[in-house]
Amino acid sequence: MAGEKTVETTGLLGWIDRRFPLSTLYKQHMSEYYAPKNFNFWYFFGSLALLVLVIQIVTGIFLVMNYKPDGDLAFNSVEYIMREVPWGWLIRYMHSTGASMFFVVVYLHMLRGLFYGSYRKPRELVWIFGVAIFLCLMAEAFMGYLLPWGQMSYWGAQVIINLFAAIPLIGPELAIWIRGDYVVSDATLNRFFALHVIAVPLVLIGLVVAHLIALHEVGSNNPDGIEIKDGPKDSRGFPLDGIPFHPYYSVHDIVGVAGFLIVFAAIMFFAPEMGGFFLEYNNFIPADPLKTPEHIAPVWYFTPFYSMLRATTSEFTWIMTAGAIIAALALLVKGNLRGIWRIAVPVVLVVAAIAFRILDAKFWGVVVMGGAVVILFFLPWLDYSPVKSIRYRPGWHKFLYGIFIVTFLVLGYLGTQPPSPVFNLMSQIGTVIYLAFFLTMPVWSRLGKFKPVPERIVIRRH
Ligand code: HEM
Repeated sequence: MAGEKTVETTGLLGWIDRRFPLSTLYKQHMSEYYAPKNFNFWYFFGSLALLVLVIQIVTGIFLVMNYKPDGDLAFNSVEYIMREVPWGWLIRYMHSTGASMFFVVVYLHMLRGLFYGSYRKPRELVWIFGVAIFLCLMAEAFMGYLLPWGQMSYWGAQVIINLFAAIPLIGPELAIWIRGDYVVSDATLNRFFALHVIAVPLVLIGLVVAHLIALHEVGSNNPDGIEIKDGPKDSRGFPLDGIPFHPYYSVHDIVGVAGFLIVFAAIMFFAPEMGGFFLEYNNFIPADPLKTPEHIAPVWYFTPFYSMLRATTSEFTWIMTAGAIIAALALLVKGNLRGIWRIAVPVVLVVAAIAFRILDAKFWGVVVMGGAVVILFFLPWLDYSPVKSIRYRPGWHKFLYGIFIVTFLVLGYLGTQPPSPVFNLMSQIGTVIYLAFFLTMPVWSRLGKFKPVPERIVIRRH
């Protein structure tokens, strides 16, 4: 039967199996893990994320051998790695390119989940672990960026840590606690180093393991959003629409790895700075606490969220409040009145806080930016569509997804640019579209004409 415990009885493997479930684990997760037979290009990115994780850990270990986490030495130790350490430039460029490529891969991986409804029952926990990974990855990248101790490392950290000071009551103390000083300093560098090289990677690895255990418990989704476990099975109990992960997808993934490594190597050897997107010009200047760079922008993978932060001016908080009131009224008219206090109370509190200037725009900016990430946790409970995959949704749903993707990219671009009135307005519109996409999903996701989902996976010729 599927998933049955199997033990080798002879040879070295038999000896191990009687002491450790090696064959059982191998079968469960590789040779007898049945994955849907219709995986496509979008299914490369999970294994690619694993590959980048390994690249980052291995290159990170070698970087630590020569890096000095000290305010006086850090910048020069990176220069030393680049110029003097044999192959040091290669290791460093692998690590810096790896950081950006991690986000490219993870964003595409998440987009796949969005397209095919992979976050929906029974994969809610796979998704939740994924969003937690995303959060950890952001923390890891942010702290790693401080380590070269360049101008952008220093001032970027200064700006972001200052955001914590906007939290009511505890904010200013919290910001000092994070820095370990009144400004970003050697103490900050030391703690970020400890967190970047050991604490966060440990959590990250734990979460990735949990992500994969959860995935293998329920089985993979696929581009059709059909549950192969609910379909017909063979005499051994394996789904007929599935194929063993090994050898089929282990080989399939090697194709993805080859393509990815070509792109990775091309960037690393020919454009490691990627025109300032992967390594910024200002970071080749040593950190100077007395000289603020003219334009401070985070690395590209943070810029969509950074745009949302900058978009939240005091006028914008009023627009958001108006939106919240309209949404609350709509629910009041349409919905169940008994639970309405759950919406009314927070709305009244928010309006009062803004009206009496208890909390300023900076605080709401942090709320909007944080909310834009946190809302992803709730995605499984926002989507009410009767089908999982975008393939069987109404055409205009695809259009909405398109608008969402373009908005995210535009927000990303705007976050790299110095602020201007036009760009600010565009960021505000983008922020509203981004949040509205998720907040109104319970309404629009069930509307329109859905195509019937076939019972079995049919592989069509492309
Ligand atoms: C270090 C980062 C990550 C690694 C190493 C990783 C690894 C993987 C792997 C190996 C798979 C199976 C292969 C595949 O479906 O592509 C997978 C599936 C999945 N991952 Fe991730 N993942 C990461 C981050 C994330 C994030 C940030 C999210 C979402 C927020 C996410 C959501 C999912 C979902 C929903 C699936 C199931 C997809 C399906 O069955 O259609 N993952 N992940």
